Amino acid sequence: MRLSRAAASAVLGFFALFATSNANNSHHQGVDYEAVKSDIWAALTDSKEFWPADFGNYGPFLIRLAWHCAGSYRTSDGRGGCDGGRIRYLPERGWPDNVNLDKALDVLEPLKIRHPSISWGDLIILAGTTAIEHMGGPVLGYCGGRTDDANGDASLQLGPTALQVDIANCTLNGNCSFPLGPTTIGLIYVNPEGHLADGDPVGITPDIRSSFGRMGMNDRETVALIGGGHSFGKAHGACPTGAGPSPIEDPANPWPGTCGNGTSKGKGRNTFSSGFEGPWTTAPTNWTNQYFSNLLDFNWTIITGPGAHKQWTPNAISGKKSPPSGIMMLTSDIGLISEDKYKALVQEYATNISSLSTEFAHAWYKLTSRDIGPAWRCKGPWVAPPQPFQLPLPDAPAQSADLWSLADKVKNVLSASTKGPSDTTADGQPYVGALLINVAKQCASSYRDTDHSGGCNGASFLLAPQNDYPLNKGTGDVVSSVLKPIADATPGASIADLIVLSGTVALAQASGRYDFYDHLRGGRVDLKTAWNLEEVSRLAPRTYIANPIVAVRDDWVVRGLTVPQGVALAGLPRSTFQQKNLGYSGSFGDPSKVDNTLFKLLVTESWVPTNKTGPAGPEYVAVDKPDVFVLQSDLVLHWDGEAKAVVQEFAADNDAFLDALVDAWSTIMNADLPPK
Ligand code: HEM
Repeated sequence: MRLSRAAASAVLGFFALFATSNANNSHHQGVDYEAVKSDIWAALTDSKEFWPADFGNYGPFLIRLAWHCAGSYRTSDGRGGCDGGRIRYLPERGWPDNVNLDKALDVLEPLKIRHPSISWGDLIILAGTTAIEHMGGPVLGYCGGRTDDANGDASLQLGPTALQVDIANCTLNGNCSFPLGPTTIGLIYVNPEGHLADGDPVGITPDIRSSFGRMGMNDRETVALIGGGHSFGKAHGACPTGAGPSPIEDPANPWPGTCGNGTSKGKGRNTFSSGFEGPWTTAPTNWTNQYFSNLLDFNWTIITGPGAHKQWTPNAISGKKSPPSGIMMLTSDIGLISEDKYKALVQEYATNISSLSTEFAHAWYKLTSRDIGPAWRCKGPWVAPPQPFQLPLPDAPAQSADLWSLADKVKNVLSASTKGPSDTTADGQPYVGALLINVAKQCASSYRDTDHSGGCNGASFLLAPQNDYPLNKGTGDVVSSVLKPIADATPGASIADLIVLSGTVALAQASGRYDFYDHLRGGRVDLKTAWNLEEVSRLAPRTYIANPIVAVRDDWVVRGLTVPQGVALAGLPRSTFQQKNLGYSGSFGDPSKVDNTLFKLLVTESWVPTNKTGPAGPEYVAVDKPDVFVLQSDLVLHWDGEAKAVVQEFAADNDAFLDALVDAWSTIMNADLPPK
């Protein structure tokens, strides 16, 4: 059944969103999104000789480009996705799954030249989304705002590279698991031909669930995306001889194609991409739910297709209608009817196109926008309302509390801290400053620069599931005993602002450096109910990297920190009370002092492991100072050459340390806020 545009609009109201733009927002940083979209619309059916469009429409090809650009995203560390436009560079450009997508980029190149201010990432996703609309498919909206990377370095961790092996090795390609996104490096998700290409549809379903799960997609989203995507276009495997050299083997003319002869060699009917051949439906340039009904209406048999790969062909179920000629399915498609949960969804989407349309529109928006982060970062005229995957926050109150009068209240607490958890200063006084600094550090620590998720705004770390993460232990007690009374007595004060403020006040007082206030910002809000569990679980601590040096350095990259910033943050005062709370013996120094003590210790002392370990890794004690404890992550700073140079600088120059700490602190406290 084909869903007409009018029907889609009536059922979903989606077209209204994508077609009716908000004129005020139609330009962003010189990008005229409306004009780009209208040029894409025209280009879709303007077939070019260098790469003739199947069925006279580049739509399916551009949807595949957008899907492969966005589909590298993984929840484990927020890496991947189309932001950065790195599908243009190695290593992604050379992945076998991206075969011939260089030609899809060539189709878009004249548009990029005509509209230089749109980023490649934005153009690719706008092209895929416009193609869906052009072929009558449902669209929830479009979130622009990607910026292009100058090279493919940020994809080195996605593999296949030495850095990927360091961070997340995969000993048998095809069996790759968390934290990697796909089961097979070089493919976007799973092997279409079955687990390790074994042609078994039953065996591929756990792979599909696992790999789409690592991308943050549940079963409903997964089945809607695969079947909605394969409503369009066809697979290409015209002959058994293949696509030819990859971009690594021949960067000037990758995948020239070896099927056919003369001027039509390797293109049009003679295209070889994946090596499978044929469309999934009889209407590959129209939005239908035929993919799902085709799966259910016929008996599917495995054959070897013209491209010498295993694919599936339909036969009539006895007494039922004959299948149309030419359609095919992949082993991964047949997987969706080889398992009960997936099959129930195939049945739902086969009989209820509006359910499919709703699910597909939402899942496509999530697929393509999730690397951009919260909804406020989306640019352009067709931004959809905030979605659960964007971890939305409540609106700020009309009148926020004045930060500076709040600061006075915090100072009073700091000078008279007696109730609740606290440290004890050298002269026996209770001191809560180091605990407040730790609370602010933990509040901000969930921020990931890779997908702009998390951060202190919302104070979500006080709610499930983050309040159970080991390093957050005890932070809720400090907030309720010290900060909650201030918030309760001050209209418009958010706990999140108070957390950042109190950590900053404590740092400024203890260091005597009042430039900690220079970048202090307010306006944060508090989340009242926990975020959707499926979505927020991506912020779980990353504990999977075995090599401690690689783990520390990777953490800095994911959080968007430079090496000096990362090293400086290790030097924050460390609460003895909190260290014991976490299962350690103590701290490296006086919790009420902010200075370069840690770095001086690292360059002068020898260390042996204690028998203790905790959520921040193993503990060490100074051989000559039995009361001085550091963590392995501190020693790493002296093991890694680049970090060691910074440690040496900080050990010799307290002001250099404090300068870097002011910079690092304001970076992590403000990382999740919109620019001023
Ligand atoms: C094409 C595999 C999910 C959209 C293809 C092809 C393969 C494939 C092998 C043929 C490529 C060629 O030879 O040209 C898979 C697998 C998936 C998956 C194994 C996951 C289990 C998706 C998703 C979407 C999508 C989620 C989009 C939402 C498309 C489109 C085409 C295509 C539009 C046709 C491209 C063209 O006509 O040029 N897919 N795919 N696929 N795929 Fe997927």
